[in-house]
Amino acid sequence: KRPAGAPDAALARPVERIGVVGAGLMAGQFALLFATQLRVPVTITDIDAERVERGLAYIRGELDKQVAKGRMRAEDAAAVKDLVVGTTDKADFADADLVIEAVFEELEVKKKVFAEVEAAVSPECILATNTSSLSVTEMTADLAHPERVVGFHFFNPVAVMPLVEIVATPATGDAVVATAFALAKGLRKTAVLVQDAAAFVVNRVLLRLMGEVQNAYDDGTPADVADRALRPMGLPMTPFTLLAMVGLPVAQHVMESLHAAFGDRFRVSSNLQTLIDHRITGLWQKDDDGAPVVPDSTTELLS
Ligand code: 3HC
Repeated sequence: KRPAGAPDAALARPVERIGVVGAGLMAGQFALLFATQLRVPVTITDIDAERVERGLAYIRGELDKQVAKGRMRAEDAAAVKDLVVGTTDKADFADADLVIEAVFEELEVKKKVFAEVEAAVSPECILATNTSSLSVTEMTADLAHPERVVGFHFFNPVAVMPLVEIVATPATGDAVVATAFALAKGLRKTAVLVQDAAAFVVNRVLLRLMGEVQNAYDDGTPADVADRALRPMGLPMTPFTLLAMVGLPVAQHVMESLHAAFGDRFRVSSNLQTLIDHRITGLWQKDDDGAPVVPDSTTELLS
């Protein structure tokens, strides 16, 4: 176990080049944040050039929106665009100070990614994971240097959610944790140091709420009724809308991790699979004009 507090900030190392493994929506969002807030070069990678290009296009599109809204000067957006480059070759991470992964939420996939990344980076490079629920310790147990590993867990939408969970394993070095805190500060996020326990803190609590709404649904309350019932309760989003935004497969993975760790306190919804089978993936479903579709209720989700 690690101590509860953040280590001495003076131990933090500079982070001047960042690598991001994965060019999906989570990875794209924080690559954008790194480049915008820290103004450091960011290299994103994925399994093929098409995915990388899609990630870059997302980042450029978000920057264009900032300019269109008058929130960013065109020259600043252009400068940030220049900072983000894509590659399909992890060898391009050779001079990164930190590489963070946001690939598919499956232990074996992440283990493979970490092995490949460790083979490509310098001995000092910090390796971070944005896992939502998997054990960081298990994921990195085979690495030559597990002391360089830290969990850095963002929340969706990354640009606006103020929190980052920093996950330290028993092996994580103090300088690595201190660097993660300094990074969060540079990103203007609030950081909390959490234990490497299933789904950490936020998802563990959030999934109790979302899980109970799903249980009500599984028990026969229509999904949109269960969702609507929560609408006046002061939540920024109702549970099913949040589920759609987080992505149903991600939510299911988190729930499975919680079920494995804590048993029947967390029940994996039988209906969640139905929703997944309807390919409801989240806020970023696009209509024919490319505009995001925000499902209002699960009646809509299931139609
Ligand atoms: N991307 C970027 N920015 C977004 C966004 C998105 N997808 N959605 C909203 N925003 C921005 C808007 O541009 C706006 O910023 P502005 O004021 O500068 O224009 C700001 O957020 C507020 O947006 P809106 O006024 O349109 O809408 P709301 O006031 O309803 O807020 C919300 C939107 C912040 C998303 C709010 O509904 C919310 O907090 N929802 C809960 C989100 C949540 O719980 N996230 C955690 C999920 S769990 C997770 O991610 C962990 C993972 O491991 C599973």
